[in-house]
Amino acid sequence: MDVGIFIPIGNNGWLISSTSPQYKPSFDLNKEIVQKAEHYGLDFALSMIKLRGFGGKTEFWDYNLESFTLMAGLAAVTQKIKLYATAATLVMPPAIMARMTTTIDSISHGRFGVNLITGWQRPEYSQMGMWPGDEFFSNRYEYLAEYIQVCKELWSTGRSDFKGEHFQMDDCHMLPKPQADIPIICAGQSAAGMEFSAQHANYNFCFGKGLNTPTAFAPTAQRLKQVADNIGRKVGSVVLIMVIADETDELAMAKWERYKAGKDQDALDWMTTQGAVDKKSGKDTNVRDMTDPTSAVNLNMGTLVGSFASVAAMLDEIDTVEGCEGVLLTFDDFIQGMDDYGQKIQPLMKSRQHIIASKCEQVA
Ligand SMILES: Cc1cc2nc3c(=O)[nH]c(=O)nc-3n(C[C@H](O)[C@H](O)[C@H](O)COP(=O)(O)O)c2cc1C
Repeated sequence: MDVGIFIPIGNNGWLISSTSPQYKPSFDLNKEIVQKAEHYGLDFALSMIKLRGFGGKTEFWDYNLESFTLMAGLAAVTQKIKLYATAATLVMPPAIMARMTTTIDSISHGRFGVNLITGWQRPEYSQMGMWPGDEFFSNRYEYLAEYIQVCKELWSTGRSDFKGEHFQMDDCHMLPKPQADIPIICAGQSAAGMEFSAQHANYNFCFGKGLNTPTAFAPTAQRLKQVADNIGRKVGSVVLIMVIADETDELAMAKWERYKAGKDQDALDWMTTQGAVDKKSGKDTNVRDMTDPTSAVNLNMGTLVGSFASVAAMLDEIDTVEGCEGVLLTFDDFIQGMDDYGQKIQPLMKSRQHIIASKCEQVA
């Protein structure tokens, strides 16, 4: 099972709380985290794109760096770890995104891939006059399918003459081509989103679910597998999980309870309201489902809370889910969390013994 890190490009990471660690994003912070991740043998690092935060007293995600430029910097200070940026496809023309990708492919010597998003929060785009209208909620994955076709043509042949509904190329040139294939990730959860991933992506992110229920996302992984099987493609699920760990289960649970007690209700209300604006995508999408109060404070991502041994065992359980190829980790405190994962959790994981073995070989 691959392990990746969802680096904190926005303030306070993924805890919408005034009692969790409070910090602003910076290149130096993310560099330290990604260099630790590389040192501990993690497979990849991803940054999201968020162009408008949720406000509230914690000013949640009001501070955010830009994903491609951050990953370009990180590419220059790492050697092995794969890096993914997230493309805000509504505001980045495909030929520009394709060229930025080629540039980071060059900086990283072939370690770069792209997470494609359509966008779900209207104010991120309407604040700059770039929202195409609410019809976009229903045709956003058709837009994305045209978008990636243009990029793939440019990456593979250096040219595109694509003519579609959303994009018209006119003998568009883009050289050099990237030195490595560019892996594509999407996080489609709706029927249209999963169909897109099955057709065009190498991996699909999905949300973990619940507290200490590591395999609860299995039906989502199964849904993706079925759609991909139907068209004869192999697309792995990668599940998003928050780890809150400590020496004992009790100490870890006390942290989780403290974070929940400090939830920033105004920021959560903003997110819930914005999520509900989309009436066109259907009910089968879950970034907008904030109805489960147990975990609203971390956007309802699956959460593993416990001792280092308990968390290691639960992460190993994830590896048993059919169709799952990886886990994408977030932490309450990314610096401490990365060290705890590398030194105290990963060595206990059966699914990561190949990493431990290769580290021993390097030392020997
Ligand atoms: C791991 C992960 C990363 C995501 N990154 C972003 C992001 O950077 N920006 C964004 O606007 N949405 C992001 N999303 C939301 C997804 O792009 C997607 O809209 C959501 O999962 C709902 O699926 P749907 O689009 O099929 O309705 C992310 C979701 C996941 C699970």
